[in-house]
Amino acid sequence: MKIAYISQTGNVASFVEKLGLDAMEVYTGTETMDEPFVLITYTDGLGDVPDIGSDFLEENHALLRGVVASGNMGWSDTYCLAADAVHEQYGVPILGKIEDDGTDEDVAVIRATIVSLNK
Ligand SMILES: Cc1cc2nc3c(=O)[nH]c(=O)nc-3n(C[C@H](O)[C@H](O)[C@H](O)COP(=O)(O)O)c2cc1C
Repeated sequence: MKIAYISQTGNVASFVEKLGLDAMEVYTGTETMDEPFVLITYTDGLGDVPDIGSDFLEENHALLRGVVASGNMGWSDTYCLAADAVHEQYGVPILGKIEDDGTDEDVAVIRATIVSLNK
């Protein structure tokens, strides 16, 4: 299962590197996916998907299989709500929520979940 990820300050990029799975960074939102994928994104605004993520999903959501969001507990009311926004708009499962670049347990659990989607 391919990963598409969006990272502004490096936390999501660090988490994705720890996963060690096939991944593509979304920089502009105009990228095209040609295989099923999981989106891993940070949370922007007040619980929002970053704009480039919205653009990217508009074009590629047919192949989207799940979403993981990174956030920070300092945003208590909107913690990781980017995952909920994608889930509500596209009906795909939330595979995890991580703070910053995630714990070792987050890496193990979310990695196993993503790998199991290939079966
Ligand atoms: C302008 C701004 C708004 C944010 N809003 C939220 C939010 O609503 N909820 C949340 O959980 N985290 C929020 N965050 C925290 C980031 O999602 C979090 O730090 C994330 O790990 C950043 O990932 P990145 O380093 O890959 O860009 C916000 C960060 C910034 C800079």
